[in-house]
Amino acid sequence: MYDIVKSDKLTPDVIKLEIRAPHIARKAKAGQFIIVTPTEHGERIPLTMADFSPEKGTVTIAALEVGKTTRELGTMKAGDKLFSLVGPLGLPTELHKYGDVVSIGGGIGLALMYPVVRALRQAGNYTINIIGARNEKLLIYEDEIKSVSDEFYVCTDDGSKGHHGFVSDVLKKLIAENKKIDMVYAVGPIIMMKVIANITKPHNIKTVVSLNPIMVDGTGMCGSCRVIIGGKTKFGCVDGPEFDGHQVDFDNLTARNKRYIPEEQVALRKWQGAK
Ligand code: FAD
Ligand code: FES
Ligand code: MG
Repeated sequence: MYDIVKSDKLTPDVIKLEIRAPHIARKAKAGQFIIVTPTEHGERIPLTMADFSPEKGTVTIAALEVGKTTRELGTMKAGDKLFSLVGPLGLPTELHKYGDVVSIGGGIGLALMYPVVRALRQAGNYTINIIGARNEKLLIYEDEIKSVSDEFYVCTDDGSKGHHGFVSDVLKKLIAENKKIDMVYAVGPIIMMKVIANITKPHNIKTVVSLNPIMVDGTGMCGSCRVIIGGKTKFGCVDGPEFDGHQVDFDNLTARNKRYIPEEQVALRKWQGAK
C-alpha cells in the first residue's frame, strides 16, 4: 500500500497526487512512468511522473479524469492509500546538449512536459517552451514550466490567454523567422504530436514525441502497447514511451487507442452505479 501525502485539483478534471514511494523516487528519471493500481480489484493504468523527489521519497502524478480509473483517482485525498505502484518504467528522456530545444505541450501533456524541460535545461540546453490548452483555466504547470524556460509562449484555443490559436502556430512562426532550432520535443494529444511532426519533417528538425498506447503490464510482456515506428513494431513501454516523431504511425496509434471503448464505457457506468 502507498500513502497519498498530498492531493490537489489542478482543474475540475485534473487531480495531482503526491505519493510516498521512496524506492521509485530514488531511481526515477524524466520521461519515465509508473503503473498505478488504485484499489485491490482495480485496473492498472500508466501515468507519467510529473515530479519526483528522492529527498522526500515521493513521486507526483497528474491525471486527467477521463474514465473509470482516473475518476477513481480523482476522489482520492491525502491519507488515502493506493493498492500498488510499479516503476519507474520506460526509457528516460535521452538527455544531451542539443542546443536550442523547442518543447511543446498540450492539455494534460503539460504535467508530463515539466520534468523533461527541467532536465533538458539542466543538461545545458536553451529551452524555448510552448504550452497550450483549450482555455486559460486548463493551463496546468504554467509557473513550473515558465521557471525552466529561456523563452516561453502560451496559447489558448479560445484566446483567453496568450496566442489565440494552437501551439503549432507558434512553432510555424519560429520556423518562418529562421529561429535556430536543434530539437523539438512534443507531448500531448496524438493529433497535436502528429501536426508538430508534420511541420518539422520538411525542415529536418529532430523531433521526439511521447506516446500513450494502451498498456497493461508495462514491462514488455503483453504486447498491448505495440506501436509502429518506421514500419517496425515496437513496444511503447520498454522501447519508449518517447520515439522519433517522423517515424511514428500516428493513425495506427489513434485506432488502437479506441479498441476498448465499449468496455471502458461499461466499466465507468458500473463504477458510477456502485458509488
Ligand atoms: P478509460 O475510459 O478506461 O479510457 C479512456 C481512454 O484512455 C481509452 O480510450 C484509451 O485511449 C486510454 N486508456 C485506457 N486504458 C489505458 C491503459 N491501460 N493504458 C493507456 N491508455 C489507456 N494520463 C494522464 O492523465 N496523466 C499522465 O501522466 C499520463 N501518462 C501516461 C503515460 C503513458 C506511458 C501512457 C501510455 C499513458 C498515459 N496517460 C496519462 C493516459 C492514461 O493512462 C489513460 O488516460 C488512463 O489509462 C485512462 O483510464 P480510465 O480508466 O480513466 O479511462
Ligand atoms: Fe505490455 Fe507494453 S504494456 S508489452
Ligand atoms: Mg479504464
